[in-house]
Amino acid sequence: MVGKGLGAWLLLPLQLVCLVAKALVGALLPSKLRDLSGDSVLITGGGRGIGRYLAREFAKRGARKVILWGRTEKCLKETTEEIRAMGTECHYFICDVGNREEVYQQAKAVREKVGDITILVNNAAVVHGKSLMESDDDALLKSQHINTLGQFWTTKAFLPRMLELQKGHIVCLNSVLALSAIPGVIDYCTSKASSFAFMESLTLGLLDCPGVNATTVLPFHTSTEMFQGMRIRFPNLFPPLKPETVARRTVEAVRQNQAFLLLPWTMHILIILKSILPQAALEEIHKFSGSYTCMNTFKGRT
Ligand SMILES: NC(=O)c1ccc[n+]([C@@H]2O[C@H](COP(=O)([O-])OP(=O)(O)OC[C@H]3O[C@@H](n4cnc5c(N)ncnc54)[C@H](OP(=O)(O)O)[C@@H]3O)[C@@H](O)[C@H]2O)c1
Repeated sequence: MVGKGLGAWLLLPLQLVCLVAKALVGALLPSKLRDLSGDSVLITGGGRGIGRYLAREFAKRGARKVILWGRTEKCLKETTEEIRAMGTECHYFICDVGNREEVYQQAKAVREKVGDITILVNNAAVVHGKSLMESDDDALLKSQHINTLGQFWTTKAFLPRMLELQKGHIVCLNSVLALSAIPGVIDYCTSKASSFAFMESLTLGLLDCPGVNATTVLPFHTSTEMFQGMRIRFPNLFPPLKPETVARRTVEAVRQNQAFLLLPWTMHILIILKSILPQAALEEIHKFSGSYTCMNTFKGRT
């Protein structure tokens, strides 16, 4: 019995070395990509911003159906027409993901009108853009309802059928701010950190569910309307990502079944520094890079 336990302890480091080597080789060699031709993809916040680019990218990569959720009909309609013109079946539904009843109701409507969803992309989010004391309570609640709890409801609505079919993927457009928060957007950072914990827990919980997986994408600042007005101290050193790049890398990560993706890769350095440097040193980095004050000119996007 003791020998068996000891064997397992000795085996673990070997297994870890093999898995790290496999991941390194996998990152260098072209890997087999998931065929999307049997997939119906639902994107929350799919009418504009990164969501719109995701819709284009999924359609371009051969998804069978694309379904868009959002609150603003005009941009949902425009994106739907664009995706249809690409030759992909596309539908939109008005749905506020922060409203639980509406999510369950619209999920039912999607199943009746379009059929099963096999890829759910939780992309919708808002940012209030004020400090804690300047924010009114309802605005603080709103970002938690949309950015975090919204994912509880959408996932609860679509995951059970994915588990039955043994085919599914839950995707979360998170943010690097989930792992390294800044002042001035306290509501957003809190909601993204909590959404990251949700995805970590979900990803591990899906380990024994064949055919169903999860991907969390953590991008750096991206040039959409979301953070318009934010002041960057070194824009040439830290240029914003393009939304099309975020969309392309997200779809690639889904097709490669990659669990977590930090964009750009240099953000790994920030995360490593965060875990080893003393707080005073981190504060100097924040002051120097301007992330300490970059939100002073920012008005929020709700
Ligand atoms: N832009 C960045 O710098 C950046 C960086 C890292 C991560 N991200 C993440 O990437 C995702 C997309 O951001 P983005 O840059 O595309 O932002 P965006 O341009 O402001 O778009 C936000 C999207 O979310 C939708 N949305 C907001 N509230 C909603 C609600 N209650 N119900 C349904 N849909 C809702 C909006 O559509 P309606 O207004 O029509 O509802 C819109 O389609 C977000 O999760 C964001 O946190 C963005």
